[in-house]
Amino acid sequence: MEKTLVLIKPDGVRRKLVGEIIGRLEKKGLDLEKARMLVLSRAKAEEHYRDHRGKDFYEELIQYITSGPVLAMVWSGRNAIALTRRLVGDTNPHEALPGTIRGDFALTTTENLVHASDSPQAAQREIALFFSGEEDDRF
Ligand code: CMP
Repeated sequence: MEKTLVLIKPDGVRRKLVGEIIGRLEKKGLDLEKARMLVLSRAKAEEHYRDHRGKDFYEELIQYITSGPVLAMVWSGRNAIALTRRLVGDTNPHEALPGTIRGDFALTTTENLVHASDSPQAAQREIALFFSGEEDDRF
């Protein structure tokens, strides 16, 4: 049994795709364990995306992820990390296959609706980052 962190990013919330995205993960058989709606501070966004620091899209990514509320969730299930990545689809929406979340709904690489942990190490780090016991809605 694995746990993974999924974020519905600001464009997903703005476009009212929260129910659609949760529905896809639920119908596949994954279990929703935790959920939290919050607006990321710049500091938390930089921590979350620390591996992308220095890349040419980094500033755009930080601006976007802090631009509105995100829904942070922990999902669990067998092979949940790889499985969720497959349901989400390729990072580049032009490569993401129809039937995946990005393949069906995303048009740009930055505004790609969803983040899902890419390894057990990332999942552990990201779950701790978003669910560390703080109940404040801004962090
Ligand atoms: P995510 O899965 O959250 O992980 C890193 C994010 O960086 C990715 O989704 C995209 O939103 C963004 N990203 C990755 N590669 C690029 C790129 N080449 N150009 C713009 N944004 C990117």
